Amino acid sequence: MKNKHVIDLEDISREELMEIIELANRIMASPEEYSEVCKGKILATLFYEPSTRTQMSFKTAMLRLGGNVIGFDNPQNSSVSKGESLKDTITVVGGYTDIIAIRHPSEGAAKAASMYSAAPVINAGDGGHLHPTQTLTDVVTLYNEKGTLDNMCIGLCGDLKNGRTVHSLIKTMSHFENNSFVLISTPELTVPQYIKDILNRSGCKYQEIPNLKDAMPLLDVLYMTRIQRERFASEEEYEKQKGIFVLDREKLTYAKSDLKILHPLPRVDEIEEDVDYDSRAKYFIQTVYGMYARMALIMTMLKDVDRTPMPRKFDTHNVRCKNPRCITQQEKYLPKRFHKAGGDMLLCRYCDDRTLI
Ligand code: CP
Repeated sequence: MKNKHVIDLEDISREELMEIIELANRIMASPEEYSEVCKGKILATLFYEPSTRTQMSFKTAMLRLGGNVIGFDNPQNSSVSKGESLKDTITVVGGYTDIIAIRHPSEGAAKAASMYSAAPVINAGDGGHLHPTQTLTDVVTLYNEKGTLDNMCIGLCGDLKNGRTVHSLIKTMSHFENNSFVLISTPELTVPQYIKDILNRSGCKYQEIPNLKDAMPLLDVLYMTRIQRERFASEEEYEKQKGIFVLDREKLTYAKSDLKILHPLPRVDEIEEDVDYDSRAKYFIQTVYGMYARMALIMTMLKDVDRTPMPRKFDTHNVRCKNPRCITQQEKYLPKRFHKAGGDMLLCRYCDDRTLI
């Protein structure tokens, strides 16, 4: 692979992405042929934040490939509870294992981890920022259920501000031909500016519609998301946003007959339970595609991996990222790293937030 780590799905070239999708499909067709390909290899799952699907699908993926798994799903049961830094934990676990999947509540945490790991690091979700293996799951689902990744009108509905799966999916689908986007949210929960900048640069058409029913007839794909309670500053602010967008059978009467309904899950109340029985609902089969997608990703990343020992010294900037949710706010030793974003603007290399010089 062109990159050792997968922090963003942009770390995988389009050719590599298509190869991973094809490999996932081959594994799905003949899983027994792949049952020993990772024999002797160890995956670490370091989950600093709760998870059902991502954690369990990574574990089952590695076990189904014949490998083994270590890790934690509650950092309080590890030396993190004694104050160990992310850098030290990763340096140690990178020495024990062959590949690491990390989920963390801070934006940019997986990027930070990758800077200190001898083993390849996979971002299994970093705060409200990115979730590339969910996007891999989503593209494997779309490729199989739609037969293409081009020429689709994709509606994304719910918490588009905090929904990391939304950000990753828009970034990836904007690279394919002739896709357009309908962003369905309240004004408070629209996508971050850096995602709009990506859409503007890509030339993809997009529109913002504050009403799910009005958007339904336009869509080839509807990507529902929950309102991310854990990302709100107060319960009061969450209460104002919850329950506004609910997909029910009545709204589906306005949809195309070949619409595909996806959801990264967990669901709270944004899809009524009886929608599950509509043939257009694909969110449970999507979780199965996710396991095969992760099997294909693990296999691909473990091929010819460079285990150059860390640490390496990084250049540091004299400006600090202003995003309160950025990993650099907690792990103070991290070098301050930025891209130039034009004019007086810098883009944090960890969390993508904009900062003025
Ligand atoms: N889709 C997803 O990330 O689900 P979990 O939070 O259960 O892993």
